[in-house]
Amino acid sequence: MLEVKELYKSFNHNRKRRGETPVAGVSFSVGDGEIVGLTGKSGAGKSTIARLLCGTLTADSGDVRFEGEVLIGAGKRYHHGLGRRIQLIPQQPFAALDPRQRLGDALTEPLLCHNLVKNRRDAEERVRELLKQVWLDEDILGRLPSQVSGGQAQRIVIARALAVEPRLLIADEATSMLDVSAQAQIFGIFRRLAGEQGISLLLISHDPALMRAAAKRRYHLAEGRLAEITGET
Ligand SMILES: Nc1ncnc2c1ncn2[C@@H]1O[C@H](COP(=O)(O)OP(=O)(O)OP(=O)(O)O)[C@@H](O)[C@H]1O
Ligand SMILES: [Mg+2]
Repeated sequence: MLEVKELYKSFNHNRKRRGETPVAGVSFSVGDGEIVGLTGKSGAGKSTIARLLCGTLTADSGDVRFEGEVLIGAGKRYHHGLGRRIQLIPQQPFAALDPRQRLGDALTEPLLCHNLVKNRRDAEERVRELLKQVWLDEDILGRLPSQVSGGQAQRIVIARALAVEPRLLIADEATSMLDVSAQAQIFGIFRRLAGEQGISLLLISHDPALMRAAAKRRYHLAEGRLAEITGET
């Protein structure tokens, strides 16, 4: 469903120095409902890959196909219409939420904005479904971000990403601010989304042990290149 071939991105200041291009010919794939892990040291270029796939950064070159269509291709601009089906779950949920907006509104807004529902009543119904998918109670809807835990805030962010019916979620260090039990809960949600809805996941973390537990197929990024990790290493 996602096929990345020879993706390149360098930033001006480090273009001259060899071995410092964050993304230098990266190729990998993610299947339907598959959970793939991506590890690498801080500064290796993991978030750069995430941003290229979401279209918030422009690739120097590369060929990326998503659900059979060209997402990034030679001489073409990023296909934003297609890219909407790729949603990013960032590291800091509180930075992704408006501190003055009630969580209920944070969820109904994308539904109404993208015309994914007919009216406010349908939006509220859909929000109830989304909450179930992330194991949250409805009483959270009236609260502000400052009135929930980090794990709950991250689950709201996931619910909001799910509102636009993505086929791929990219979780960039999405659980690194959370404790073990909140982390386990999020990974449980990811497994269920993959297993029951066939949503694909690209999990990004600097923590190899975490990725070993979460993803069957894993890649390691170093010096701009990806290597598939085989066996238990
Ligand atoms: N917009 C930018 N302009 C210039 N350099 C950038 C930009 N974004 C990232 N970089 C550089 O590219 C390299 C890779 O950054 P990136 O954020 O992708 O690393 P990362 O693997 O996600 O690291 P971390 O684990 O710390 O999140 C770093 O050297 C960073 O300073
Ligand atoms: Mg990063």
